[in-house]
Order: sequence, then C-alpha cells, then structure tokens
Amino acid sequence: GRAVPRAADLLGFTPVPLSTADEIRVPVGYTATAFLPWGTPITGSFPQFVPGGNTAAEQEQQVGMHHDGMHYFPLERGPGGNERGLLVLNHEYTDEAYLQTGTATMPPAADWTLEMVRRSQAAHGVSVVEIHRGEGGRWAVARSRLNRRITATTPMSFAGPAAGHALLRTTADPDGIRPLGTVNNCSHGVTPWGTYLTCEENFNGYFRVEPGAYSPEQAALSSRYGVGGDRNLWATNDERFVVTPDEANEPNRFGWVVEIDPFDPGSTPVKRTALGRVKHEGAFVHVTKGGRVVVYTGDDQVNEYMYKFVSSGSWQSLRARGRSPLDEGTLYVARFDDDGSGHWLPLVHGQGPLTEANGFTDQGDVLVRTRLAASALGATRMDRPEWATVDPTTGMVYLTLTNNTSSAKVENAANPRKPNPWGHIIRWQEAGGDHAATTFEWDLFLLAGQGRSSGDGSTLADEDAFGSPDGLWADPDGRVWIQTDGTQPTGANDQMLAANPHRTDAADVPEIRRFLTGVVNCEVTGVVTTPDQRTMFVNIQHPGDGGGSTWPRLDGISTPRSATVIVTKDDGGVIGT
Ligand code: FEO
Ligand code: CA
Ligand code: CA
Ligand code: CA
Repeated sequence: GRAVPRAADLLGFTPVPLSTADEIRVPVGYTATAFLPWGTPITGSFPQFVPGGNTAAEQEQQVGMHHDGMHYFPLERGPGGNERGLLVLNHEYTDEAYLQTGTATMPPAADWTLEMVRRSQAAHGVSVVEIHRGEGGRWAVARSRLNRRITATTPMSFAGPAAGHALLRTTADPDGIRPLGTVNNCSHGVTPWGTYLTCEENFNGYFRVEPGAYSPEQAALSSRYGVGGDRNLWATNDERFVVTPDEANEPNRFGWVVEIDPFDPGSTPVKRTALGRVKHEGAFVHVTKGGRVVVYTGDDQVNEYMYKFVSSGSWQSLRARGRSPLDEGTLYVARFDDDGSGHWLPLVHGQGPLTEANGFTDQGDVLVRTRLAASALGATRMDRPEWATVDPTTGMVYLTLTNNTSSAKVENAANPRKPNPWGHIIRWQEAGGDHAATTFEWDLFLLAGQGRSSGDGSTLADEDAFGSPDGLWADPDGRVWIQTDGTQPTGANDQMLAANPHRTDAADVPEIRRFLTGVVNCEVTGVVTTPDQRTMFVNIQHPGDGGGSTWPRLDGISTPRSATVIVTKDDGGVIGT
C-alpha cells in the first residue's frame, strides 16, 4: 500500500514545454519508451514486420495501425498484476500509403487489389497482447494463447433490442444477427466483469453508395450519418462495402459499441445495440452505488450529442440470471440548459415524440436511427463530444469537446465561442451523486486555447496552452489526464497534460501541468496505468500524417508507425507525482 497524495499535491513533476521535435518528451525524472508499434508480430507464425511488404495474412498476425483507446487488464491478483497483463488496444484507421508501400506515396486507385483491401481490413480493429515486465523492468510481448487480432472481418454477433431488426438484415445474414468485423475503433470502455468495449466511430466513410441505392427514408438516415466516400478503397474489391438498392443495410451494422472478452480468445465479439448507433467516441463505464452500470458515450461530429446508458438492474443480478447488463436498460441523450441544469432524455419507443405516428416503428428502429431520435427529443448540439471520464474521488463527470469550426455551429452556454477552434472541457455532477439520475448540474471546467493573455477566450494560464482536447482519463487519485488531437498553440506537436481539479486558483481554473509532448504530425490518444500506477501506457497515433516523422525508429525502420509509449518514473514512483 501507499499513502494517497493529498488532493492539493496530486501533481509533483516539472512541466515540459511545447515541442516541435520528432521525439517523445516527458518531465525530468521520467522515461518514455516506444512499444508495440504497428506491425509487431503477436500471434500465429509471428511474421516479421516489413514496411509495405507484409501480406494481409501476415498483417492479421501483427499489431494493427493507428493505436487509440486502450486498457491494461492484470493477469494476476496482487503485485504480480503490475508485471503481467493483457494490453488491449484499438486501431482506429489506416494510412493506406504507409500501409501498402511503407512510404508516403499512395499507389494509384486503379491498381487496387483484393489483397490490398484485405491488408487494410486486417490492420483495423483491436489487438489483445499479453505483456510481461522482465529483466531491467523492460516490458515484452509474451507468446501467449490469449494474444488475438480482431479485424474488419472477424465474425461477431448482435445483441439487445435491435438484434435481428429488419434494418440490420442483409443477403449474407438474413437474420440480422451475425455481422462481420469492426472498424474505426476510437475510444473504449471497460466493464466491471472484465470485458473491453471498443467503439465504432467514423464507420460511414468505408462505403460507396451506388446511385439510386436508397428509398427516401433510407436516404434521410444515410445522410444524417454521412455514409459514403469509399475512403479506404474497400468498395473497389469487396462488395460488402458497396451500397446498392438490393443491399442497403450493411452500413447500419456499424456505429455500435462492441464488447470483447479478452480472456477468452475463442469468444465472439458482441455489438451491444442498446447503447445506440452513433459515431461512438468512448463507452466509459461507471457503476452506481446500487450496482447499475452507466455507460457515457459521445457522438463525435459537429453539433452531435452526448449519451448515457443505464442498466435496468445491478450488473451482478442481471449476470446471475444469464443476462447482459448492456442489453437491458435505458439510453438517454443530454440536454444542457443555459442555467447550468441538465436533463437526460430517454430514447424509449412510444415515449414523447418517439412514436409510430412520427415514423419510429419500434425500439430497434429508435436505436438504429439514434441520431434522428435524439434530435426529436431536443438534445443539445455539442462541439464534438469525445472522451468522458468520472473522477472516482468526487463522482464528477468530465467530457472533452474537441472543437467546432463549422458555420453550422449552434452556440449555447455549454458550447460557447463560435467558432470554437480550440475546444473545451465540460463537467457535471449527477443529481444526488447518483449516476443513474435523470438530472444534473453542469459547468465549464476549462476553455482551451493559447492562454488567457491571447484574447481567444481560453481560461488557461499561458504556459499550459493546448487545443483540441480528445483523450481523457481520471486516474484513481483524481488526476485528470488530457490528450490532444488537432491544432496546438504555436503549431506545436500534440500533447498530454494533467489537471488537478482539487487545486484551483482564484478564478477557479484548475492546476495544469504539461506531462508529455508527441512527435511530428501525430495525435496523443489512449492512456492507462498498471493498477499500482507505476507504469503508464500512452498511445501515439498517426505520426507523420502528412510527412515529417520517422518515429519510433525501431529496428532501423524509418516508416512512421503508431505505437504505445511506456512511461515510468526513474525512482519507481506513481506516474504524475
Ligand atoms: Fe477518433 Fe473522435 O476521435
Ligand atoms: Ca484519430
Ligand atoms: Ca479521439
Ligand atoms: Ca479527435
């Protein structure tokens, strides 16, 4: 055991300055080491990484591209769990140039082959990797039967109210219960029963929509989610990603939260439809005093909404009856009123405007068309909800709103500044401290930007300047780790900072210190520690997006590669102290 730091003393490190260097920087007294880059062999025949030179079958046995949300599951109780665990991480998307050639040069679309599509699909999804801390404190991949790749072609199932719905049926799956694969896995969540939740965010861009594919109703749904674009050229060779009049439902089979049991490599991942269908950014789970699970999940697009799901009963009682707590409950969408109060509005068929007369046929229909149902309820349009987290020491919920520069932005008290190029963090306390409550009190935690003296509306001290908050995690002591994805002050690299909400200045601005600076043209996303908080894992995504990076420069390879960074304190102490 260790003494829990006093709230005022949560942050003990000397902050690092903004950086434009192509290397990871952490405070004096800390060490950062790259680990598990894209292409690391983890299963099967453990094929060696060759930039642009691996087959699709080999990529399926290697860590995928574009690391994002992540969790560490200890494999032992007690101290051993800090040295041996499962690291589970998302692979949000692919850079097809680096993937297919190992260079920044994109091959001609006319030459695209099925093998190239399969390679791309194999670089998507999730990696489950058993890791051990060995000699000299170095972490290494174990050749474990638990290591697994989940990809855009892995067999899955649907559960919850929309499973089997007419809108989820295809010729290949006439029952609408056996989807294939997961894509654009951004943030994540973890359940108290030891499973991992991965979120399907910008699934819409993987499809090509043929002219005349849609009825008017289908067209309204498709346009609200922006389906189309064939961004990764999958539609060139894989008919599943071509939307036609006879096959218009495949896009409806994405945009879900997917539950994975990392401890059973033979388990089938499950798309939990009760959590709604949006561009999910995170599925942060909090357990109420009565044992109900609450899942906070944002929909990351301009003017879209914030949601939470509340299970119908305690997770223990539901599971004891063989039910999933993620299948039975109520999905709500948030309304942030200008007076600082808030309301959770239920997305329940037959209630309020969600009736047959208004075109909502049943609960499955409400869930497949979550965005349209939430609009009908009058939810508050937000500046791109990204990650949420609950400070375990106070119950306060924090949510990053990354930015909104759209001319369509709707300004409101919860989303001030039009345009809002720097983003902000909102927070709320659920009524009575009960996370299942349907009302809350909110305020703005901070407005990001170039600092108070810049005149851009930022509430930050100048030395703490940052923009585009995205990744967010309150650690067990209540440090709020903030990660960025987008424009930074002075054009600096993306970064990670720590905020101490328990120590504020006279203007109620929290203490903030910059902890890590990323490499050129990356984002910093995904953060977790071992249970003892002495090893931290941080993901660096898309280094060299647009060029300029050779990071992590492992094994003599100069192709930029997403990777996990392991951060330790040289004195073996808790990260952040
Ligand atoms: Fe994948 Fe919303 O960041
Ligand atoms: Ca990203
Ligand atoms: Ca994100
Ligand atoms: Ca983002």
